[in-house]
Amino acid sequence: MEQRKGRRLILFPLPLQGHMNPMLELANILYFKGFSITIIHTNFNSLNPSTHPHFTYHSISDNLSESEAAEKDLLLLLSHLNTKCFEPFRECLATLVSDVSKEPVACLISDPVFDFTQSVAESLKIPRILLRTGSASFTAVISAFPLLEKKGYIPKQDSRLEEPVTEFSPLRVKDLPMINSSDPERFLKLVHNLTYETKASYGFIFNTFEDLEQHALATLRKELHIPIFPIGPFHKCVPATTSTSSLLSQDRSCISWLNTQAPKSVIYVSFGSIATINKAQFLEIALGLANSKQPFLWVVRPRLVHGSDWLEPLPGRFLETLNGRGHIVKWAPQKEVLAHQAVGVFWTHNGWNSTLESICEGVPMICMPCSSDQMMNARYVSDVWKVGLQLQHRFERGDIEKTIRKLTVETEGDQMRDRLSKLKDEANLCPRQGGSSYQSLNDLVNHILSLESFVYKT
Ligand code: UDX
Repeated sequence: MEQRKGRRLILFPLPLQGHMNPMLELANILYFKGFSITIIHTNFNSLNPSTHPHFTYHSISDNLSESEAAEKDLLLLLSHLNTKCFEPFRECLATLVSDVSKEPVACLISDPVFDFTQSVAESLKIPRILLRTGSASFTAVISAFPLLEKKGYIPKQDSRLEEPVTEFSPLRVKDLPMINSSDPERFLKLVHNLTYETKASYGFIFNTFEDLEQHALATLRKELHIPIFPIGPFHKCVPATTSTSSLLSQDRSCISWLNTQAPKSVIYVSFGSIATINKAQFLEIALGLANSKQPFLWVVRPRLVHGSDWLEPLPGRFLETLNGRGHIVKWAPQKEVLAHQAVGVFWTHNGWNSTLESICEGVPMICMPCSSDQMMNARYVSDVWKVGLQLQHRFERGDIEKTIRKLTVETEGDQMRDRLSKLKDEANLCPRQGGSSYQSLNDLVNHILSLESFVYKT
């Protein structure tokens, strides 16, 4: 823990699991660097202050109706949050900034998906830094959307899906970011806001590291002219802790079950906090896992399967017939699971957090991207870092079984583990003294402390 800096940082996470986790990890990192931390959070998916008692919390009322809070169209949900949080956030931030009984506020750190935070920060004359929760490559690609639209890659056409995107090799058109919505224009509007918001900020923080994304980081530095701070992997930058920002409670029975399994034998299966599947797909996954003959730990979130509360679509006595070879939980302590010696493969949807967490523990991946940045994360895993395989026929039990075998009993898995061992070492070394993320974090701290002398950007 470093000497207190006498400055307060205000952090405002987007209330989705894959965005809250890195923001809370960043808060811990900056707390250890000597800043006081204040978190503004929404009632929707609200945080539990007792998990990080060293922070100060302010909850704002997002006024979402019951049906808005249950909205399945992610982009529509984000649009509701952006409309309804604007005024409560502005009032809360104004009160915090004018509170002279506390340390002065050095800056706001927000998620760029909250598109109103720039105008609020500007009106209150507070510098704003952005945390990008996706990869640097994702930011580079969405910053180039106007070009990609001009070249006709976007909107994606079925006839061009396999075509290479030469500007971003080895991506293909089908890998470009996209979130389906009832109104296709909504995604382009989100991308436009993200790009505009980027340009207006005082800096960019990434949960990544130089050795992993050197090329994308260099591109961003050249094109954005904004200070860039790749200080990840966040969870390797502070001492391991049991505090969690999980919205669902973690079922620790999976750790006791893993303790009974042979080293590197278990397939860990999880598709993050948002992806959903239908019953037929769920059954193919279950049968592919059963037929693979490997032990598996499977996270099935409540309502992961359309129209079901939990495991109802599984064949009767599915787990019993496997004689303990399978274990299913609603939510797992994922980082601990990936670090467990029994885990040999991660079957993932390639959310950025999951991808990075897998790399950090040297676990090869089976890639099954669903939406957003996941398709391009998966392409990097399979074709750039070469540490995973994409499922060719996503929900087909034979293909699932074959892909699992390639990574467990055939030599392909060992070659990937060799490549991963180098990346794992780099991921663990870069936050230590002399490493790139260590240096970048010190640069970030100095940057934040220097912001007072800046004339406010407009
Ligand atoms: C979303 C997007 O889908 C993703 O593409 C984007 O990069 C971030 O926002 P999500 O789908 O939830 O996130 O995936 P991911 O980024 O992998 O984040 C999931 C987080 O939940 C990870 O930190 C993971 O460790 C955690 N998790 C997941 C658990 O703690 N337990 C689980 O059982 C499953």
